[in-house]
Amino acid sequence: MKKIKTNILNPISSSQVEYLKNTFLTIENGKISSISKETKTSDFSDHSDCICIPGLIDTHVHLSQYFIRGSHSSNLLHWLNTYAFPEELKSKDLEYAKKVARDFFKDSVRKGTTTSVIYTAPFKQACETAFQIAREIGVRAIIGKTMMDCNSPDFLLQDTEVAFKESLELFEKWNNKTKLLEYVFTPRFALTCSSKLMQMTGDFAKQNNAYIQTHLSENHEEIRTTLKLFPDCDNYTQVYEKFNLLGPKTILGHVIHIDDNELDIIKETGSKIAHCPDSNFFIKSGEFPFEKIKNKKISFALASDVAGGTSISMLNVMKMCNYRQQNYIVSPTEAFYYATLCGAKVLGKEKIIGSIKVGKDADLTFIKIPEIENKEKENILSELVYLGTERKIKATFVAGKPVFQS
Ligand code: GUN
Ligand code: FE
Repeated sequence: MKKIKTNILNPISSSQVEYLKNTFLTIENGKISSISKETKTSDFSDHSDCICIPGLIDTHVHLSQYFIRGSHSSNLLHWLNTYAFPEELKSKDLEYAKKVARDFFKDSVRKGTTTSVIYTAPFKQACETAFQIAREIGVRAIIGKTMMDCNSPDFLLQDTEVAFKESLELFEKWNNKTKLLEYVFTPRFALTCSSKLMQMTGDFAKQNNAYIQTHLSENHEEIRTTLKLFPDCDNYTQVYEKFNLLGPKTILGHVIHIDDNELDIIKETGSKIAHCPDSNFFIKSGEFPFEKIKNKKISFALASDVAGGTSISMLNVMKMCNYRQQNYIVSPTEAFYYATLCGAKVLGKEKIIGSIKVGKDADLTFIKIPEIENKEKENILSELVYLGTERKIKATFVAGKPVFQS
């Protein structure tokens, strides 16, 4: 058993957060076994200079693009062709893929993220390596090999059957075979995937209750080209609906330029959205219709989208979430909720992670806050969202195990 003295900052809902000052937390068998104001022993680790928050959750991130963070471009398709695709090719080399994966996961735990939903480069070895390193470091991750079988540069293009078969093999080898790792079927987006590939993927994932991730309506040019390729569909969302790719375990990245009919399809199918504010800003994709999607009660959560996003830090993403809205005000409470408990809900894991509660897994991030004893809940929360990237992360735990300590 592990006992820790700390100050718990816990998300309750999009409008509520609780703050438990000088509290004792115990961890047994990877789970939180008690939270109390008092302790009878003096045998505890003292993190009372920190806030303890639930481990941050990144619902959409491209591991193999980690080294090209900050490569500026004026739009998505130019950025993909100039930076992302050539960089993903480098992960064909096993040593390079290992280095990217190791640096990615190390940085991610150093920045307080405990769960990531990941796209790797379209090479089986690159995905396999990402799983192995995730297991070695001890993070929680849902990982998929990007699939692309048309309209792509030759160096990334895969044969349809091979793209699918490799994904199937990775799914069988890694999905739920260890406690913290799962597979996600990953057709990149409709522009680079054939009808056959999307249909096979949708049908298999549905039959096997597997996760699916893809991109939807990020950029105007992307949407125009997609609709030309699928003239029988009235809108982009219908393309994914047609090929059985939508459902409660589907995570759609971006979803910016979207109409009410499309949002109705997303809602009816129970599909989820990964909102990537830093990326949407950086490559000028547009403004996520935050208020509209929230009012429709479609489930969404925050994501870094590195390397469309510049930083893997979900503390940065929380800040960007408010900056990126022209009119809607995202409160610190709300931004915190979308990076923690709501992320867990998007993944259907809110009973296991996302908040600090007896019985849940101990996925925890400890962040040093100067003069913490003199600060109130509201100041601490605002400091977390707007100054979080400048604060020192002292430790990150996944299922009770330290994966990072400074
Ligand atoms: N759409 C298709 N692929 C990508 C990608 O790698 N990054 C982003 N931001 N959008 C995409
Ligand atoms: Fe993306």
